[in-house]
Amino acid sequence: MCRREELREGEVRTTQLGLDADGIPIAALLLIDANGDVVAYRNLCRHLPVPLDGGTGQLLSEDGAHLICGTHGAMYRLLDGYCVDGPCEGLSLEALHVREDGGELYVSDLAEPR
Ligand code: FES
Repeated sequence: MCRREELREGEVRTTQLGLDADGIPIAALLLIDANGDVVAYRNLCRHLPVPLDGGTGQLLSEDGAHLICGTHGAMYRLLDGYCVDGPCEGLSLEALHVREDGGELYVSDLAEPR
């Protein structure tokens, strides 16, 4: 998706990873959490099957501490995708696999690399 050093705190990179088993597009979100770790999640709210940003590109809360769903306000922690407030409180975003190779970051929808 990008080189590790290009990824900045407070920035979310996005890409498409193809379709899931149900034919629904898999949109990936790549970002750095508060610990400086690179994490990736599927851009799909756990309340209803809609993208967090609804196509607006607004993915982070104003303070940058959470991913936020623009439809009904669910707030997800960056470090693990856990919903701390909103209608899907207690559920987590679908985590995606991040691999770094030669400074380049790759994201896949597999729990483990092939
Ligand atoms: S669709 Fe995301 S909180 Fe309702």
